Amino acid sequence: MAFLEIDQVSFTYPKHDKPVLTEIDLQFDRAGITAVVGPNGCGKTTLTKLMIGVLQATEGEIRLTGRPIADFSLAEIGRRVGYVFQNPDLQLFCGTVAEEVGFGPANLGYEPAAVAERVGFYLDYFELTAYRNTFPMHLSHGEKQRLAIAAVLANEPDFLILDEPTTGLDAYRKRLLEDYLKKIARSGRGMILVSHDTAFVDRVAERVIVLENGRVIEDSRRKGKAADEA
Ligand SMILES: Nc1ncnc2c1ncn2[C@@H]1O[C@H](COP(=O)(O)OP(=O)(O)O)[C@@H](O)[C@H]1O
Ligand SMILES: [Mg+2]
Repeated sequence: MAFLEIDQVSFTYPKHDKPVLTEIDLQFDRAGITAVVGPNGCGKTTLTKLMIGVLQATEGEIRLTGRPIADFSLAEIGRRVGYVFQNPDLQLFCGTVAEEVGFGPANLGYEPAAVAERVGFYLDYFELTAYRNTFPMHLSHGEKQRLAIAAVLANEPDFLILDEPTTGLDAYRKRLLEDYLKKIARSGRGMILVSHDTAFVDRVAERVIVLENGRVIEDSRRKGKAADEA
């Protein structure tokens, strides 16, 4: 049984006639890095929102660990699947950068010392330590993007969905993100990476799904990527 199954899913936004996604059939294991690519407006973000239960399929069914996603609360889905929004402004809500990273682990019930340790690690890795007491909305776009990723990774979820995570990152910080995503994949967790950034996708993805006009037009494996690298 796949971790996440998308079974003949179609989706039309309420009060619209034209379906955004049509008869999508996909399965994802809790392993490896899968990229979802395709032109602007082809339905990538909509597909990821269906996967985390924020939107409900018009037709078909999505199952998480074999159970219909409609049977889970959003919080239950959130504990299993970490989601990095395309727009970090929609994700960040805490008063300081450090609180933003610590919120998830504290909510998962970790002891304050363990929370502080994780916060320290992720702030350091994403080079945000200097901003630990800064109000997140005062950061630059690239810093917000790094913070949004750090805050989701700090929960150490089994599966991750990242929607355009390289937006606003410079080449060096993309490389750091690449290293970290590969490290996560090697630790036996899976992820879906929605991206326009073909160079980044080429470096990290083991499987590439191409969407066009709301349909899957290609689903291919690529050899010699993250999982093989030591
Ligand atoms: N909330 C919404 N209501 C109506 N239409 C929407 C909404 N969000 C996105 N769309 C439309 O759905 C299509 C797919 O959008 P989206 O999933 O954001 O694509 P992508 O992430 O691939 O750029 C686009 O035509 C977009 O205009
Ligand atoms: Mg999008």
